[in-house]
Amino acid sequence: MGAAMVTVEIEATFERWQAAARALLSDGIAPEGVEWRERPGAPPAPRASKFFRVPPRFLELARQAAIAGDPGRWAALYDVLWRIVNERRDLLEDRAHPKVRRLHGLAAQGRREAERAEQQDVLRMEAEGGGAASFVPPGADLATLAAAAKRCQGCPLYRDATQTVFGRGPAQARVVLVGEQPGDQEDLRDAPFVGPAGEILDRALTEVHLDRATLYVTNAVKHFKFVMRGKRRIHQTPRLSEIAACRAWVEAELAVIKPETLVCLGATAARALLGDEFRLMRDRGRVFATRWAPRTLATLHPSAVLRGEDDAAQERLYRMLVDDLRLAAVAV
Ligand code: URA
Ligand code: SF4
Repeated sequence: MGAAMVTVEIEATFERWQAAARALLSDGIAPEGVEWRERPGAPPAPRASKFFRVPPRFLELARQAAIAGDPGRWAALYDVLWRIVNERRDLLEDRAHPKVRRLHGLAAQGRREAERAEQQDVLRMEAEGGGAASFVPPGADLATLAAAAKRCQGCPLYRDATQTVFGRGPAQARVVLVGEQPGDQEDLRDAPFVGPAGEILDRALTEVHLDRATLYVTNAVKHFKFVMRGKRRIHQTPRLSEIAACRAWVEAELAVIKPETLVCLGATAARALLGDEFRLMRDRGRVFATRWAPRTLATLHPSAVLRGEDDAAQERLYRMLVDDLRLAAVAV
């Protein structure tokens, strides 16, 4: 029979592929009938006439795969998408399926390439003498550090955020908590963990009898990073180069406080302070010594609890957070 081939030209981004794939799905065009080509400047596909609900996990993997340099990725993605929509919604569960394995392979390749690009950014930032270090007054106390941080321009994040949100708490604190970065509320109110993530954190701290007033709470990155979606500011994970740029501040805070216990809340803080060999879900809740604190550990970010799929998942994640924070509570 041999149906006619359709050639689809896209700019090589996830969003352009997604728009084109939706249009093809709407028109019922099977993957065998599509040839994908990358062309810089190609116009976006017209809005699709139908709406398709796709598992979030597929979109996550597709986003990662889109970063890979492999020119066959667009066809491979559409192939899997077509099957999910038209044949098996649970296709991704079949990890042995060759198309699913290819998707995972491409996603892994994309993650590696993104990681390499980020490491290049860090090297460039360091080579150019960027970062917060030149803004950090040597030997300063916490109040002086906080005032100096207000003027930091060590990375581009100061441009769009409202203000630097420095750490809060007494210099005598025996426990320091380090989060990722201020969120929308924190950015407006100039205090760490006062929004939805802060509510979860406070509940967990109360449960393990840690009085927040005695703790020092800060973030690995001191400016809010976001994108606008309509009128809302949506949190964005900081890049490795931004985490590296901001590190001098958290280093200075820890040098002044010299805590007994240091808790990294979430993967970004763990990455900033414990390096990229650290795997949060594998290594959480282990206590070890670092140059900042004789007792250092990492646990989930409180926001991770909110991202749990349902009540049961959220409860499980919350329990992990509480169990790990209990380890911080025994030290004081
Ligand atoms: N999430 C963080 O990591 N830090 C905050 O201060 C608020 C939300
Ligand atoms: Fe400075 Fe950190 Fe803000 Fe970047 S995020 S401008 S390094 S305080």
